Amino acid sequence: MVIEHLRVNHIENPIGFYMPSLSLSWIVTQAKGDRAQKARVIIALDEELNHVVSDSGEQEDISSLDYNPNLELQEGTRYYWQVQVCDDEGDSGVSETAFFETGKKLTKGTWIKAPFKKNVQPLFRKRISLEKRPASARLYICGLGVYEAFINGKRISDEYLAPYYNDYNLWLQIQTYDVTDNLSKGENCIGVMLGNGWYKGRFGFVDKMDKLYGDTCHMICELHVTFEDLSEVVIPSDESWLCAPSPVLESSIYDGEVYDSQKEIPDWSKVKCDEKDFVKAKKFKENSDLLMPRLSLPVKVIKKISPKKIIDTPAGEKIIDFGQEITGWVEFLCEEKKGKEITFWFGEILQDKNFYNENLRTAKQEFHYISNGEKRKVRPHFTFYGFRYMKVEGIKDIKLKNFKGCVLHSEMEQTGNIETSNKKVNRLFLNALWGQRGNFLDVPTDCPQRDERMGWTGDAQVFCRTASYNMYTPAFYRKFLYDMKLEQDELEGSVPHVVPDILGQIGVILYGKDDTEHKKAHGACAWADAGAIIPWTMYDMYGDKSLLEMQYGNMKAWADYIRKIDIEKCGDSYLWTYGDHFADWLALDNYHKDERFGATDQYFVASAYYYYSVSLTAKAASILGKKKDEKHYKNLAEHIKKAFIDEYYTKTGRLAQETQTALAIVLWLDLIPEGARQRQIDTLMKKLEAEKQHLTTGFVGTPILCPVLTDIGHPEAAYTLLLNEDYPGWLYEVNMGATTIWERWNSVLPDGKISDTGMNSLNHYAYGSIVEWMYRYMGGIEPCEDAPGFKHFRIRPYTDSRISSAKVEFASPMGKITSAWEKTSEGYLYTIEIPFDTKAVFEMTKDASMVEVNGEISHVKQSGEQIELTKGTYQINVSL
Ligand code: BGC
Repeated sequence: MVIEHLRVNHIENPIGFYMPSLSLSWIVTQAKGDRAQKARVIIALDEELNHVVSDSGEQEDISSLDYNPNLELQEGTRYYWQVQVCDDEGDSGVSETAFFETGKKLTKGTWIKAPFKKNVQPLFRKRISLEKRPASARLYICGLGVYEAFINGKRISDEYLAPYYNDYNLWLQIQTYDVTDNLSKGENCIGVMLGNGWYKGRFGFVDKMDKLYGDTCHMICELHVTFEDLSEVVIPSDESWLCAPSPVLESSIYDGEVYDSQKEIPDWSKVKCDEKDFVKAKKFKENSDLLMPRLSLPVKVIKKISPKKIIDTPAGEKIIDFGQEITGWVEFLCEEKKGKEITFWFGEILQDKNFYNENLRTAKQEFHYISNGEKRKVRPHFTFYGFRYMKVEGIKDIKLKNFKGCVLHSEMEQTGNIETSNKKVNRLFLNALWGQRGNFLDVPTDCPQRDERMGWTGDAQVFCRTASYNMYTPAFYRKFLYDMKLEQDELEGSVPHVVPDILGQIGVILYGKDDTEHKKAHGACAWADAGAIIPWTMYDMYGDKSLLEMQYGNMKAWADYIRKIDIEKCGDSYLWTYGDHFADWLALDNYHKDERFGATDQYFVASAYYYYSVSLTAKAASILGKKKDEKHYKNLAEHIKKAFIDEYYTKTGRLAQETQTALAIVLWLDLIPEGARQRQIDTLMKKLEAEKQHLTTGFVGTPILCPVLTDIGHPEAAYTLLLNEDYPGWLYEVNMGATTIWERWNSVLPDGKISDTGMNSLNHYAYGSIVEWMYRYMGGIEPCEDAPGFKHFRIRPYTDSRISSAKVEFASPMGKITSAWEKTSEGYLYTIEIPFDTKAVFEMTKDASMVEVNGEISHVKQSGEQIELTKGTYQINVSL
């Protein structure tokens, strides 16, 4: 038996994360038995587990998805833990020892800034002398906008763009780094460089802005060094620190970076540096109460890709094609002479075979590097780009081997993979995965390239289940939902369009604190409902009740807010008929009015989501044992359903809105009067027929359309939408050479021309939510609500004759699940893998003449019948 993936609040060996409570989880593999009988969790202060602070003892009901030891955590402390498991065959295992370490309040450090003009980005340094060799050392630090820290000339971690992006008015994240190995006895030096990031400069829908959250770079830190004899020294940031202007002359999330290596101060973060160019730092007034341990996952260079080719364009440009749209930057070997300026521009697509970047709107996406003549590897520091193509100027002899595309995103394990017999479908899966890689840089963003890159809640919501099959996401969304809850507290429970609410911040700067315009502009249906949908999805996918408890606040606040709007603005009608909504954003059925809004009435969508969010809140209340809330929200949901049906159906059961999206919504949420279900199914099928089996849906309708079609008994229609190769459809994009998911169905026209420059990104993951359908219907891997986190699950694969094989793999929080199928001469052969300690059923989706499970004939034959499966690998041979 192997016990692995020991996670604390969904992170392996976390250091310095915010841990108001503990949820421990692990995965058992290679066990002899099928299920866990007993488990024991030991937590100690030492790696040998001698100083035990918590011992569960052997217990039968410890959940491997969410074990909550009753332990009061001390700050700045490392805990070690181990899991022991016994199974039903008497096999047992002991995990390797894992650890977690708590963060620390900063009590000695002061905020410091450089006494330069506000647009100058500073370097800070501090020489320190240690009398003995350190036994252990930690740097606790926060630097705004963004920082990189060094000790003795070396970066202290492989993280980039810390302290990341949140509403800096509401909280500030401290990172903790183990720097024991960076220090030695004697003289040492700490160096910190600061850039603008999301904090200052411009970000959000503005052309120019000097002050965003603030206008001055500043930092705070404490270096805690412990020696063998347990004595400790603390070196805090204070006015004895020195500062100098950085060689980063300009930096901006949208516009890129200007780096003049001629302006570098030799050895600036090493002891031996000549400090003549440095001046003393000054104190800065910042609210230290906002500081707390981090929640953001580390952002790292997760992959490096090699460029594909150099293109000489008709306009005489030199362009490097990376063959894949990525988010990050380019690292290159600079061999240019002193004083030579090298410039890179980044774009997503070529137009007329030339470089093109007009669809970035005001975002410049540039990198300027001025060489000091030294041959070295170069990369930018405080920016990132969304791109496939890079225009190069200033390098005479471009050698592809000197360039690497660095893919930057929050560190998360990839948990899903899909491969089918259809190469284009495989490419579509990869496009959505690349969309996730490109847009999970600390905040789930709409896009990574134009002057936007914000945490649009609607986009985040529609993609979160796909994302959670693809990657292990709970800690990533935990941070996003924490941000969201703080914003909700400012907005009486409402959820802003983007989280962190930069649009609100800009409103405050432009119009003052009582910016009523902004205050009206939040709480849009299907966007703000992220407040209920993401917590619920996390619970369903990861089965962590303590996380649900934590995020129940988001759900309740949001549900109560809509109810308040209903009472105050909608006549207590149990309908949501107020405000401006995006509704079925970018749907294709309303071109003649406003091409961005679909034809489905916004209040129809709003009222349906009112019902959905309140229903989810009721379910969450029930799971958390909040009886009063459960009753309240259930009752409320019933009222909404009744009001919805009264408002939107004729007496004979005809829906007043007959768009694909409206029909999909009512079928999905069962917002249908008794006896009228078939009528809606028939109408939806007719609507599809009228479009020659093509979708017309936008952000709201698209994610649910294929699931609904499959659930109502028309999987072939879902497959047709998936496999359509012409416009509008997913494979149209693939045929047009897309390497990520486009924002619009027609982002690029058949002649290769970009359809619009106003709002047209080629890396918008929202429509990538079709991948959720692939996992849940093509592979059929679906968690069961009675035991979420795949403790119980169903495998109900829908096959289609147009695809001869599919392999859907998912490393669930209980272990690896595989659902693979291939066409045989008689029917289909399924290969199914079920992990330890789960209960699963394989459900038939077609009637069969014979079913064999691992060579033995089964009595199961009819569609809808189930075969129970426990741990193991199964070959299920179905003859049709
Ligand atoms: C974003 C979207 C977002 C939308 C709101 C756009 O500018 O890029 O993805 O959800 O605005 O309607």
